[in-house]
Amino acid sequence: MNSRRTFAAAAAIAAARPLRAETLALDGGAKAVSFDPARHSALTKWPNYGNDEKQAVLDLMDSNRYYQEIPLLEKDTCQATGAPFAKAHCNGTSALMSMFFAADLPPGSEVLVPSYTASATIVPMRFFGLVPVFVDIDPATACFDLSHARRVITPATRALVPMHSWGRPCDMDEIAAFAKERGLMVLEDAAQAEGASLLGKPMGTWGEMGVFSYQTSKVLPAIEGGMGLYRSREAWERATAFGNYDLPASFPQDSKYRKYHDTGFGPKFRIHPLAAAIARKQLATLGARNRIVREQTQRLNARLTQLSGLAEQRRRSDMERVHWASNILFFDEGKAGFDKARLLKALTAEGVRASAAPYPEQHRFAIYREPAWWHHAPKVPASLPGCEQVNRTAIRVPLFQQDAPELVDQYATAFEKVWAHRKSLA
Ligand SMILES: Cc1ncc(COP(=O)(O)O)c(C=O)c1O
Repeated sequence: MNSRRTFAAAAAIAAARPLRAETLALDGGAKAVSFDPARHSALTKWPNYGNDEKQAVLDLMDSNRYYQEIPLLEKDTCQATGAPFAKAHCNGTSALMSMFFAADLPPGSEVLVPSYTASATIVPMRFFGLVPVFVDIDPATACFDLSHARRVITPATRALVPMHSWGRPCDMDEIAAFAKERGLMVLEDAAQAEGASLLGKPMGTWGEMGVFSYQTSKVLPAIEGGMGLYRSREAWERATAFGNYDLPASFPQDSKYRKYHDTGFGPKFRIHPLAAAIARKQLATLGARNRIVREQTQRLNARLTQLSGLAEQRRRSDMERVHWASNILFFDEGKAGFDKARLLKALTAEGVRASAAPYPEQHRFAIYREPAWWHHAPKVPASLPGCEQVNRTAIRVPLFQQDAPELVDQYATAFEKVWAHRKSLA
């Protein structure tokens, strides 16, 4: 039987089964997820490097032309995204630092940035006199809350940095329109969303500049690495000169930054060529890998979001999202009628690999509260209700990295079984 028919048959059996009659695994019943644990782990394993990546690394090591791999990766990236300019960096953090240098904003410029992000999106601002202004997230998307941004903007605001949480694009059409209206530069942290798009436009190309991370957990993993995308030659030259003392000499004669040959501006942010070789191979299969994960997640979420009190990050029909790290679901205890701790316990007993998912709320960390680390102190809010709601309600389930109809069905059945018993779990 092919896998589609196996799935259809399993779904039909599941639909016919009276879930209420089945004892919860928590109370000694059979587990809904009977999948072999080793196969379960294999289907959720990340990252996955194949023979192509391994061969590319070996070939490059033998080639004695290591550094040529870097411009090739940049060229592939421009082709894949349509960005006019790209620069590879040694990680996403260095891509962000180079981006802030390239932005060339006067010290004291306020930058609207979500608190719900990695420290790398914000902490490097301190080296450039920028003032992080923490913006909340929309609890329905876990992404940049434009209505909150409208409330905290001041005459000193010069830029905003949307971050596409868990691979779900921010509503960049609305954000870009707001930025244009208010004369703000859009600097995009697309570290979690390489390959996603909105209205057919790839994430990373919506802003004046954008970055990706190639760190191990990311959708394009190269163990370490990062990429910057630039709309203008000047931004590309500034970002390149910042972390590459060797490259300004190759800039065109009329470049303002050519004179910084042999010194750059201090850091050395060159990507390791072996990481560039891995990244090139991963880029070639990125679309196919993202599609497989999206199909499994959509198949699962189509059933899970039928359960009262369970929601996914709000979708838009004109966006093609990707999934980074986990499938994030929001659990509303009030609507479901039982609490998150009981849910996780019951799901875990059924064999679902679910966990609570607190994600950093940057504004809570010490570094933003101590003016000693900043030329201009960050504007730290007392609380951000959207972040709090997302962290209170979110649960993570794994992403399935291969076609996994039976496992998806068993996961959905486990949730449905738990919901069938929600009165007793209350
Ligand atoms: C949103 C976001 N920005 C930036 C980074 C930093 O990337 P890297 O770890 O490659 O420096 C990460 C990765 O952790 C991230 O998730």
